[in-house]
Parts: sequence; structure tokens; C-alpha cells
Amino acid sequence: MGKVFKVAIAGLGTVGGGTVKLLKQNAEEISNRCGKKVEIVALCSRRKTHINVDFDVSDIPWYDDAVQMAKEVDADAIVELIGGSEGVAREVCETAIKSGKSLVTANKALLAMHGNELAKLADDNNVNIAYEAAVAGGIPIIKSIREGLAGNKILSISGILNGTCNYILTTMKETGRGFDDVLAEAQAKGYAEADPSFDVDGIDTAHKTAILAALAFGVPIDFGNTYVEGIRKISARDIANADEFGYKIKLLGIAKVSDKGIEQRVHPCFVPKDEPIANVDGVFNAVVVKGDFVGTSLFAGRGAGERPTASSVVSDIIDLARGHDERFFGLSSEFTKVKPISTRDDFESSYYIDLEVEDKSGVVADIGKILKEENLSIEKLIQRGRGTKESNVVNLVMILHSSKEGGLI
Ligand code: HSE
Repeated sequence: MGKVFKVAIAGLGTVGGGTVKLLKQNAEEISNRCGKKVEIVALCSRRKTHINVDFDVSDIPWYDDAVQMAKEVDADAIVELIGGSEGVAREVCETAIKSGKSLVTANKALLAMHGNELAKLADDNNVNIAYEAAVAGGIPIIKSIREGLAGNKILSISGILNGTCNYILTTMKETGRGFDDVLAEAQAKGYAEADPSFDVDGIDTAHKTAILAALAFGVPIDFGNTYVEGIRKISARDIANADEFGYKIKLLGIAKVSDKGIEQRVHPCFVPKDEPIANVDGVFNAVVVKGDFVGTSLFAGRGAGERPTASSVVSDIIDLARGHDERFFGLSSEFTKVKPISTRDDFESSYYIDLEVEDKSGVVADIGKILKEENLSIEKLIQRGRGTKESNVVNLVMILHSSKEGGLI
């Protein structure tokens, strides 16, 4: 096999190390599938002593400076696995593209913040950006939307896109423990980052949701207009309430087309227990895509980790080696149109309300009056407890019929 596709990898942590391992371990299958040998022509990492690679890579040229590597190495593609929306990662990506090399990246934060500029730069330099590993780890959701579902108008996407949050919510449900307690344990076990805010505050899910929305609806990436709410305020009581009503709580990233425009939101949701996505637990991710011809499809799998994420990175390298034209939004950027964005007032959904009220005659009537003024209506209601001399407070939990969010905020 005479032909060679040359890649240089920047960042040799968990994902970078896994990518080297996969390219080495499955070299024969990969070459056969590409019709050419995929060769690692350079490596770069911040600390040479801490690289997560258990193959001998001493024969591969080493760079200490990733930007220099992106600029001067003779490669067909640069694989950026450094992470972060600014700094070195951004510079490496821009430099690679400007130097006429295609880019493979797992960097969802960078794409969410600067993906539109990078896509334009890639078009101008006639190179590709491939980013399967940026969303939902090992699940091939980017290719599924861009290729497998390319004939459809995509109506909506909703997904569990963050394994840390799913693990915390699943453990809270299984053990009845509170958020802080489960988060602390997840951090001690290394499942959650020391600074968990990107994950638990929903930002990581929002980055991925904005990327999926752009791809699905042919719009520029618009992270800034994504409504984001994380899981810090979810209590053990909320989880028990959801269970009693027949739901599980999941943090979902939702992108859909409504009559007002494109809706992008991330927040905890009550998901009916009999929906398949409700049973995607622990660190697993899942994405539900609705298309006008295909109907509803569910994609599930591991959303993070060395091997699943490397699987996606290498699938991108193989696509490029095969000569596939990886248009960033699945269409030429000249056809990417800005479309109206729907605001939170227009979001339409059912809502869960948990109130502590005085246990006396007329309280429900008073609440009903307020709901009526906002055109809201109760679907289910449970009262818990009974007022006593010591405390006349009881718990009223309700689910509302589907309504506009504007009436509640
Ligand atoms: N931190 C992410 C998660 C994985 O917990 O799912 C990488 O996107």
C-alpha cells in the first residue's frame, strides 16, 4: 500500500493517548478501510513525561510547541486534543487551517465559541474540520445527522450529553442522597472534575447542543442564545417527586424548530420512565433525533473516556484519509442561514412545581386563581403531609399541562 495519510497529534492526555493507541493497535484494519496507511508524523504534548501512551513512540518526531507543529509539520491533518476555547488550542486550530491542513478536533468549547469563524477559515483555505468526538464521545451522532439523516428535515434533537450529570442524577435516584454528597463522592472517585462547574452547570451540554443545532438546522453556531440551567438545584425531594409521578430527571440538551424559530435549551427535565432515553443511566449519553421522514431515532453509548472518544477521533481521520469532504455544517457555508431564535417566553412544555403552603381551606383555590390568570392549568397534583400545631406547612406538588414558559417566569 503506497499511499499515506499523514497526521500530527497535539495533546496526549486521555483522548490523545487513546487515539495513538487505536491508530497503532488497529493499523491494519484502518489502512484497509482507507486504502492508504495512516501515519503519525509528529506528536506534541505539554509535558513529555506525563503522556498517556503505552506504545513506543520514540521514533515519531516530537514537538514541544503545538502551534509550531501545526505550522511547519508536513501533515495532511492536525488532530487537536488539547481542549479549551482559547489559548493554545485555538491557535493550533487556526494555524493548522491557515497552513492548508485539515483539522480533527474533540474541542466542543472551541467549536461552540469560535466554530463559525473556523468554518469560514476552513472554507477559505479549502480544508476540512472534522469534530465527531466533540459531541457525545463515542456515539457517531455528527455523522448520523450529517450523512445518515441527510435527506430529512430535522425537527428536534434532545440528548443526555454530559456523563457527569447523568451519573450524579442516576446515583441520587438510586441512593436517595443529595446533590452535594453525590458530587463530592464523584470527585473523590475521579468521575467529576475538581472544578465541576462546566459539567454540573450545564455549560458542556450547552456547547454540544449549540453544535448539534447548527448541524441539524443549517444555522451558524449560536451558543450565546442557548438557555442554560444545570443540576445544582435538584434535590433528593425533586427526584422522589418525579418518581412518584412516573418520571426520571435527566439533564437534556434540546434543539428544536418551533413556530417562533429555533429553540436551544439545556435544563433538567422530567422524562417519562417508559421512554427509552429515561433508562440511559450512569455515565452513558443518548441522543434522540426526530426527522420528518425517518421519524424518531435513538443513539446511545459512552459519551466520554479514552477508548470511546478515540474511536470518534479516528473515524474522522479515516473519513479525511478516504477523501470525504467534511463540510462543517453538513453544507457549504454559503447556504448556512441565520434563522430566528425562539426566546424563553415562547418555550412550550409541561412544568413541575413544588410548593410549601399553609394547610388551610382555600389555598388551592388561591393558587388556581393565579394559574388561571397566567392561562396555566394543573394536570396532576399531590398534597403531602398534614398541618400540625407545630407546623402548619404542607407540600403541594403539581404538574401543569403544556403551556408557554412566559406564564411562569
Ligand atoms: N465532561 C464530559 C462529561 C465529557 O462528563 O460527559 C466530555 O465532553
